Amino acid sequence: MDFKKAAPATDKTIAGAATCRQCHQQVSDAYLQNPHQQTSHAVTDTKLMDNSLPHLSVYAFDEHFKVKVEQRNGFVYQVAYNDGIETIARRFDISFGSGEKAVTYGTWQGDQLKQLPLSYFKQVKSWVNSPGFPQNTAHFSRTIDVRCMECHSSFTDRKIVQDGPLKVKEELVKGSVVYGIDCERCHGPAGKHVEFHLEHPQAKVAKYIALYQTLTRKQKTDACATCHGGNDMEILKSIFAFKPGDDLHDYYSNATGNNAKKVLDVHGNQSGMLAESKCFIQSKTMDCSSCHRTHENLKGNLTSYTQRCISCHATIKHSALTLKNAVVKTNCIDCHMPEQVSGVISFQQAGKTDISAYKLRTHKIGIYH
Ligand code: HEC
Ligand code: HEC
Ligand code: HEC
Ligand code: HEC
Ligand code: HEC
Ligand code: HEC
Ligand code: HEC
Repeated sequence: MDFKKAAPATDKTIAGAATCRQCHQQVSDAYLQNPHQQTSHAVTDTKLMDNSLPHLSVYAFDEHFKVKVEQRNGFVYQVAYNDGIETIARRFDISFGSGEKAVTYGTWQGDQLKQLPLSYFKQVKSWVNSPGFPQNTAHFSRTIDVRCMECHSSFTDRKIVQDGPLKVKEELVKGSVVYGIDCERCHGPAGKHVEFHLEHPQAKVAKYIALYQTLTRKQKTDACATCHGGNDMEILKSIFAFKPGDDLHDYYSNATGNNAKKVLDVHGNQSGMLAESKCFIQSKTMDCSSCHRTHENLKGNLTSYTQRCISCHATIKHSALTLKNAVVKTNCIDCHMPEQVSGVISFQQAGKTDISAYKLRTHKIGIYH
């Protein structure tokens, strides 16, 4: 795709992911499979993620009240029924989540985005009541605000409008949503970089783009912690403006590191948990890229992750008892980064009183028994 410039690019000019591919083909192609790129998209037909989802299914809140997932005139809807009588039908418009663990959906109501009552939970392969929703009735009115979009989209514009004499409400600008997390969310606006390299095709040294290898460890982890540093901080300004090299404390007050006493959750706070690990503290060099290849999809490739552990731990003093375990050399992960239950997210299944746990890897690397 062409990069058409209306005016000379500035530090804030976004080039768009499509422009990167002409010079960074390999990275761009690999990245299409990365969960970041897949973490949100528009639902424009009857396909939800992939076709393995149970389209025609019913979630019964009780014997009277049910929500069905139905196909109608080329789209998919969540339809509520009370004693068999339809009460409300809302279209699937946006999906959130690559589907690794769960997918939840938004529906447009004017310029507000509302979360649909049913989410898909991969672990139990079925529709569940969306996390945090009331147990006994389907809710169609919970607003998905710009905050979700800050972590799950590349850009979404919003406006604050008057809602009655004393109230204001937030509206999202529907047409402004750029789905998925694209290159410039992690690399910063690259308009000047693109402009320069298009004009100087012979230049082999990168210009006008942050060089990760020159950043401090804090700057590197901050660039990930914008979205992986928890969701319980006070927001000072939108992280849509965050560029590599920036200090997270300018965006969040009490960002991880400031508040030792808070309980860290395995959901959404990988940087906080990692910061408590001996590996992180004592190595002084470990950052997210010590283990993750941010352009690829290494999901489930525990052998590859194990290689990363061994790169620092060539000799380990395991006891004879531990060494009896056959996987000791091939899978460090299940013992030292076990899955733990999130305290903030869980799912309600139809007809069950207990809730389904939502498990994630702990990033507090340590000795667990
Ligand atoms: C016209 C060619 C061109 C386009 C388009 C382009 N780049 Fe680059 N980019 C380069 C060149 C040349 C380098 C230096 C050699 C290298 O590292 O590949 C580079 C290097 C980089 C680097 C590496 C910096 C480092 O750490 O060494 C990043 C990151 C980068 N580009 C991001 C982007 C992004 C994001 C886009 C799309 C918004 C983009 N580039 C579009 C030519 C381009
Ligand atoms: C703009 C927000 C944002 C930024 C910045 C970000 N992430 Fe993520 N990341 C997410 C979201 C959202 C997901 C969940 C994706 C999904 O739907 O599965 C995710 C998922 C992941 C995963 C799990 C999927 C996988 O690939 O195995 C890893 C690992 C990860 N991020 C690492 C990083 C690292 C490392 C950085 C910094 C270089 C980073 N992220 C920066 C938002 C972000
Ligand atoms: C989730 C954050 C994230 C996203 C999204 C992302 N990158 Fe990167 N990229 C990084 C990090 C971190 C590095 C530094 C090297 C490393 O740690 O893997 C990097 C390094 C690079 C480099 C230089 C080294 C290399 O691996 O070739 C280029 C070029 C690059 N990225 C281009 C892109 C392009 C093009 C896209 C979009 C298709 C993209 N990046 C999307 C985080 C990201
Ligand atoms: C501060 C950043 C942040 C915010 C805000 C946020 N998320 Fe996430 N979300 C993440 C990260 C990071 C992950 C993946 C890793 C994890 O769970 O720790 C994730 C995972 C998910 C998943 C599961 C993805 C999968 O494929 O397994 C869904 C669904 C989701 N988020 C929806 C939402 C919705 C809806 C909102 C708004 C109500 C929201 N998120 C707000 C960062 C965020
Ligand atoms: C960048 C280097 C580095 C990497 C990569 C690394 N570690 Fe470490 N790790 C350290 C250092 C340094 C220590 C502290 C000294 C020691 O105990 O060896 C440590 C300590 C540990 C400890 C002892 C923790 C405790 O609380 O006593 C365990 C267990 C451990 N690492 C497991 C792992 C596993 C599993 C991986 C891969 C997922 C890994 N490490 C990756 C550097 C690293
Ligand atoms: C079966 C579970 C298990 C597996 C697999 C395992 N460990 Fe351990 N590890 C332990 C236990 C338990 C301890 C505490 C000492 C002991 O009882 O052996 C330990 C201790 C350690 C320590 C601290 C002792 C020291 O030498 O500093 C490090 C580092 C470590 N493991 C790294 C690794 C790495 C790297 C791998 C993968 C190559 C791995 N472990 C695989 C269970 C395991
Ligand atoms: C010592 C190695 C190591 C480091 C450093 C590390 N991770 Fe991970 N991370 C892992 C492993 C191993 C997994 C599990 C991968 C899998 O199951 O496919 C994982 C999984 C994740 C996931 C998915 C969570 C889940 O349970 O599915 C996210 C998100 C993530 N990492 C983000 C980060 C971020 C952000 C950083 C930096 C703050 C980071 N990681 C640093 C090893 C590491």
